[in-house]
Amino acid sequence: MKELKRTIIKDLLRPAGELPIGQLVNVKGWVRTKRGNKKVAFIALNDGSIIHNIQIVADVEDFGEEALKPVTTGSCISVDGILVESLGHGQKVEIQARNILIYGSADPETFPLQKKSHSMEFLREIAHLRPRTNTFGAVLRLRHAMAFAIHKYFNDNGFYYIHSPIITGSDAEGAGDMFRVSILDPKNPPLREDGSVDFSKDFFGKQTNLTVSGQLEAELGAMALSKVYTFGPTFRAENSNTPRHLAEFWMIEPEIAFYDIHDDMDLAEDFLKYLIRYALDNCIDDLEFLNNMYDKELIERLKSIIEHEFERLTYTEAVEILIQSGQKWEFPVSWGSDLQAEHERYLVEKHFKKPVILTDYPTEIKAFYMKQNPDGKTVRAMDVLFPRIGEIIGGSQREEDFDKLNRRIKELQIPEEELWWYLETRKYGTAPHSGFGLGFERLMLFVTGMANIRDVIPFPRTPQNAEF
Ligand code: 4AD
Ligand code: MG
Repeated sequence: MKELKRTIIKDLLRPAGELPIGQLVNVKGWVRTKRGNKKVAFIALNDGSIIHNIQIVADVEDFGEEALKPVTTGSCISVDGILVESLGHGQKVEIQARNILIYGSADPETFPLQKKSHSMEFLREIAHLRPRTNTFGAVLRLRHAMAFAIHKYFNDNGFYYIHSPIITGSDAEGAGDMFRVSILDPKNPPLREDGSVDFSKDFFGKQTNLTVSGQLEAELGAMALSKVYTFGPTFRAENSNTPRHLAEFWMIEPEIAFYDIHDDMDLAEDFLKYLIRYALDNCIDDLEFLNNMYDKELIERLKSIIEHEFERLTYTEAVEILIQSGQKWEFPVSWGSDLQAEHERYLVEKHFKKPVILTDYPTEIKAFYMKQNPDGKTVRAMDVLFPRIGEIIGGSQREEDFDKLNRRIKELQIPEEELWWYLETRKYGTAPHSGFGLGFERLMLFVTGMANIRDVIPFPRTPQNAEF
């Protein structure tokens, strides 16, 4: 007999008029539940194409009780059957099974995802199976939709996608929290005369690390293609065990020639609003599920972002507000200190009650490449702060003046052999330019309403954890 072509479940849950009612169809997927009685079994089948299951109805006498036994929660099956309008509640259509093929059963004694709710902590321990839950199905589909929307936004707006390297010899953020890439024998590395490790003997002939940001290479692209962006994995060896930090995260970094910091802020605001609108327009089933299960204000919060203009003010003004607030802080605020999540969230959630963009931060707490202000103590930085998240975007106008940039690099004692190529762009056809970095998982935290960044990436990497 000729095998039936598989239909994905999403296509069987469309509006009634478009469905092959009365016809034989084939579906394949993983069993979420099986219930019923001596006469009939109801199998809820999910194939990940959509959050909803399709109901399979199997006549126990036809199949035999024994044959249906391996159809357990978690098992994978293929079903041929007639698509019919459902008499039961909760679904428009169901499949009357004619033939069931079991690809793989799942032992009910040991399969960890039985029908009950599991803690997020437990699900992290079984990250190889958690995509089969409603929650992670929704998160992963949303993650895909956001990645797609990011490329679409830039493509539609004349940006070119630049692939920045993963292995680099420079420290783009100058924060020093990098993972070394080396093939030297850690027990017996080649040494220089002074006893230090001789990295000239290493694979690349010098010290290399995993990139912390694709920005510097994106800038090279912008100095030729005008509007570019990177979207790739970035790595930070900072020992931050928080719900908002990963050691491996994805970052989107647009870089645009002839943009000043105001253009940069306009782009950031438009971009974020576009992405949130895209999620609302294209992923409402998954958002409704997350809204009902985890965060009753999720959809309202997403809508409110689109409806309001982001508040823009300087770091100095923000520090003033924080000092005047009379709040008790875990980390005290004073001009010159970096803002902590508690300060950022106060400004966004309590004071302005909408997203905030802070600009003109103290030079000393920002990276070497930012454009220096005439006041001699601040730079043209901008951070976008979001409710529940704090910093979601960090960006700036870049220092395009060779002498100023060179002076700053020397002040910070950044080795010249790391950045000679970066400096040369300021020597040959320099131009004002700006850009920013959006942390993809911070965006996903916001869009899904999840509470922990470990739950918006398939396999999180955090201190003491690189399982799977
Ligand atoms: O503010 P950051 O460090 O800026 C840069 O890396 C610049 N090179 C960006 C640019 O101008 N092109 O990081 C940018 C964003 C942050 O705002 C945050 O959303 C995210 O990256 N981020 C992290 N996300 C998860 N885990 C971490 N450890 C993160 N560190 C930064
Ligand atoms: Mg930052």
